[in-house]
Amino acid sequence: MDKKASEERPEPLAPAAVITGATRGIGRALANEFGKGGHTLLLVARDESGLAKTASEITAEYGVRVQYVACDLSVAEGCDRVEDALRDYGLYAESLVNNAAIMMAGFFQDQGREDLLRIIDLNVRAVVDLTRRFLPDMLTRDSGGVLNVASVEGFMPVPYQATYAATKACMISLSRALAYEVMGTNVRVCAVTPGPIETEMHASAGAENSYYVQYYPVMTPEKIAEAAYKRFIRGNWVITEGWVNRITAFGVRFLPGIMHIPAAGWFFRVRDAEGNPQMPKPLRKPKL
Ligand SMILES: NC(=O)c1ccc[n+]([C@@H]2O[C@H](COP(=O)([O-])OP(=O)(O)OC[C@H]3O[C@@H](n4cnc5c(N)ncnc54)[C@H](OP(=O)(O)O)[C@@H]3O)[C@@H](O)[C@H]2O)c1
Repeated sequence: MDKKASEERPEPLAPAAVITGATRGIGRALANEFGKGGHTLLLVARDESGLAKTASEITAEYGVRVQYVACDLSVAEGCDRVEDALRDYGLYAESLVNNAAIMMAGFFQDQGREDLLRIIDLNVRAVVDLTRRFLPDMLTRDSGGVLNVASVEGFMPVPYQATYAATKACMISLSRALAYEVMGTNVRVCAVTPGPIETEMHASAGAENSYYVQYYPVMTPEKIAEAAYKRFIRGNWVITEGWVNRITAFGVRFLPGIMHIPAAGWFFRVRDAEGNPQMPKPLRKPKL
């Protein structure tokens, strides 16, 4: 081949695991697991310095290539930035881990409309958007997969975290349906459904004194990430770790809502440090 032609030929793209919400918590722990597994990584979150720190720590620990892109996935341009970053770094998404999410706790009527819509945008719209961008190429290559970080809350209606739980139900439903659609290929689609995990999420949502944080068994991000990675590689559809979470996920299928919704309401009610339940704010008079 003449020299000019070989110079013009583009370098083949290298496979990478795209992990959203990788600066802390479960996403950080999943990035570690994928790094340990020898994958090149593209980490995504808003905090650039947090991403740089995570990237250098994983490279130092496992010797893998780690790139990152700082963007807000709750706006449509955020997903464009991920695709652009992959192209700029000469990578393609071999695996996609949809982990970034936000949670808000309290009475629905007291929550801001913009804040509620941001939960939908990040927890659902970005998940569908990124999956639609990368899944078709995974099918063409007949390898890779999508790991969606849902929640045990996705198995049932959850008062005081109503919108968040509904987004996680959507994620489980989407994952199971797609797992069926890709059956017979070497592509995996999988949902992991953790119970409470020791991360900043509960305090950021205002739920740090809710009974579920105190009375439900709490797991470390490292433990759930290890199980999720192992079983994602194995090709499981839904990963539920811990016997209490498994009983919850199984039990709500058979118990009528009149039993499990009040139980969820008791566990998830927002409380102050003394355990007093939050009351709804006084409602404004409807405009006549
Ligand atoms: N913690 C639990 O008990 C629990 C239980 C079940 C399921 N889960 C699920 O596990 C996942 C991770 O939860 P976690 O507890 O680890 O959360 P976390 O500690 O709050 O971390 C959230 C991550 O998402 C990123 N993020 C937040 N908003 C973003 C945005 N708009 N655009 C891009 N990235 C954004 C954050 O980084 P930046 O702030 O830098 O953007 C951070 O890296 C979520 O899907 C959650 O629903 C958590």
